[in-house]
Amino acid sequence: MRSKLNLLAIVGSQRRNGNSYSLAKAVLDSVNAEYEIVQLADSEVAFCNLCEKCISDDCVLEDDFNEILEKMEHADGIVFVVPKYLFVASKFLCFLERLNTIDHMRKHAGYERTFQNPDYKLFTEKPFCMFVTSGTGKVEKQTLEIVVDYIEGLGLRLIRYDKPPFLGISVKAGDRKGEVLGNKQGIEECRRLVQKLLKDKHNY
Ligand SMILES: Cc1cc2nc3c(=O)[nH]c(=O)nc-3n(C[C@H](O)[C@H](O)[C@H](O)COP(=O)(O)O)c2cc1C
Repeated sequence: MRSKLNLLAIVGSQRRNGNSYSLAKAVLDSVNAEYEIVQLADSEVAFCNLCEKCISDDCVLEDDFNEILEKMEHADGIVFVVPKYLFVASKFLCFLERLNTIDHMRKHAGYERTFQNPDYKLFTEKPFCMFVTSGTGKVEKQTLEIVVDYIEGLGLRLIRYDKPPFLGISVKAGDRKGEVLGNKQGIEECRRLVQKLLKDKHNY
């Protein structure tokens, strides 16, 4: 049996090695798990064009998406770290569109059909948690609600935070790269949530 669980962090920022990456690394370095961090800033993620081929096959677009999806499938749990850019960073939305299109196409067997395979889910009960970084650290309830709703719809299971709005943690990150590392309390709160995810996975 493997002694350590294996986490995947998906960093949704367009800015390479920005605050969301620094937060992910600081948190994952402090827990007892193996981990990998995928930065969308380093990845090519094209827009879905509704070709519908993913009804019965992998996505046919030639970019990094299928490789990231495979990493998600192999991980014991997933940590999404997404910066607040107005609503949510657009490259992350593009990535979410790709995941959701596959799920939708397989459930409905096409764009315009009603449910053909209503129980289909891209994932089965894989735990995830979410952090939103921002300049101000204001509680990003709307961002968390919408993003978490889409992610849960894929069959991933939300590990809730113990403070309102319970969906994830809004972290004051500042704007300069690395500034988030000064927010020790924010890092500690995120660490506690990841530990909760690991414990949950062990006991599930
Ligand atoms: C286009 C854009 C929009 C932003 N909108 C907000 C915002 O609405 N509220 C806020 O607190 N910070 C906002 N920020 C600041 C970022 O959330 C902040 O700089 C964060 O640390 C960036 O994370 P990153 O380095 O991982 O990209 C915005 C930044 C950009 C580039």
